[in-house]
Amino acid sequence: MNKPNVHAVHRDWDREFPVMERAEGIYLYDQDGRKYIDGSGGSSVVTTIGHGVTEIAQAMFEQAQKFSFYPAHAFTNEQFLELSDLVVSLAPGGLKDASRVWVACTGTDATDDAVRLARQYWITEGKPSKYQVITRWQGFHGNTISVAGYSGISSRRNIFQPMYVESPHIPPAFCYRCPFEHTYPECNLLCARALETAIRQHGPENVAAFIAEPVVGAGLGCVPAPPGYFQEIREICTRYDVLFIADEVMTGWGRTGRMWGIEHWGVTPDIIATAKGMTAGYTPLSAVIARDEIWATLERAHSPFKAGHTLNANAVSCAGAIAVLHYIQKHDLVENSRQRGEQALKGLGNLMEKHPSLGDVRGLGLMFGFELVRDQDTKRPFEAQQRASAVFERAAWQRGLVSYACTGTVDGTLGDMVLLAPPLVINEAQVNDILTIIDDSLSETEKELGGR
Ligand SMILES: Cc1ncc(COP(=O)(O)O)c(C=O)c1O
Repeated sequence: MNKPNVHAVHRDWDREFPVMERAEGIYLYDQDGRKYIDGSGGSSVVTTIGHGVTEIAQAMFEQAQKFSFYPAHAFTNEQFLELSDLVVSLAPGGLKDASRVWVACTGTDATDDAVRLARQYWITEGKPSKYQVITRWQGFHGNTISVAGYSGISSRRNIFQPMYVESPHIPPAFCYRCPFEHTYPECNLLCARALETAIRQHGPENVAAFIAEPVVGAGLGCVPAPPGYFQEIREICTRYDVLFIADEVMTGWGRTGRMWGIEHWGVTPDIIATAKGMTAGYTPLSAVIARDEIWATLERAHSPFKAGHTLNANAVSCAGAIAVLHYIQKHDLVENSRQRGEQALKGLGNLMEKHPSLGDVRGLGLMFGFELVRDQDTKRPFEAQQRASAVFERAAWQRGLVSYACTGTVDGTLGDMVLLAPPLVINEAQVNDILTIIDDSLSETEKELGGR
């Protein structure tokens, strides 16, 4: 366990944090020699290519030997140029070979910069009243004071709420607990059409963008929008001159069994914000990918993009990202994510009969999870103070599986879910190991929390 340390501030005061020693593939090892499966891909959905891939470290080392930092107001760097070409060649739909890339440091930078780009674009286009960004309840887009206002997880919002840049929120696309109490497909996608209502209520002349995660991660525990949802969203955004920003911070780079989450709906966003899996955790880096025409509008107006941080497009991080993206392609990890994800979801589905606390099992590719309920039939959640997902997380931890416990699926506070996102290099036997641990951990959770 940790040496007592009074200087380092961790995320939680009430738990011990074992010190990590090393990691390899899907496994983590602490200084006491304990082995864990990295079931949540870090915190979370980061480790696309798994741990300990020396060629990534090598690529970064080689660049670091040349230089890592440089005066970015005066120079560019080869790794940034190469990375941008690579990203554009891999971009989805109409963005492929027809977009440009801005590189920043964190996922929050990427979503913040994406909405800045939307705002600056509309000003440059001569529509300066367009500033509002419509978001969704139970969505998550990052953790600065500005971006946190776009998020819709109430329990994470409350402390800083008075300081937020407020934005209109529409209900999530969440069939298991439909906010409109309808059933798909008879609902006729009311959740998507809520965007049109919100745009009209706020006035299309005031709305700059709509931002959404193709598969909602931390706020709902791996909930993909239903078929047709993003097609409807795309259509509404186009009709009202609203830019559609896909937050692919979690869903990009093969995580959902396609290179991009939005590809499951076959539509092209105007802007993508991405991070996490792009460097698999080897180094911090994020990106904003936007249609050529959006950047060209700024370029024609000689209006430099008003965003940026000192360490943007860091050459060592760009070298790491290039190596990670090549690794994903070379090892066909997108297809592995699809196959292993199907296996995991099927395995979880098979556990539903045995475990009355398994309310819903969901996800896409290797971004999957489940919701814990007190009653499978009525979907009644556990009481918040029972901390059901934390109880599960602890049980899994004791069995050597790191999972990611989330809350708020019902209303941003109530409702427990567990998110899983192992490295995309995982094999069939390892998925079965995870399922076995989940099975045992659910039994313990149910014993501790009691049944219906
Ligand atoms: C969908 C989504 N967007 C944005 C972010 C923010 O990314 P970061 O933590 O790298 O700032 C996250 C982080 O979890 C996320 O899940």
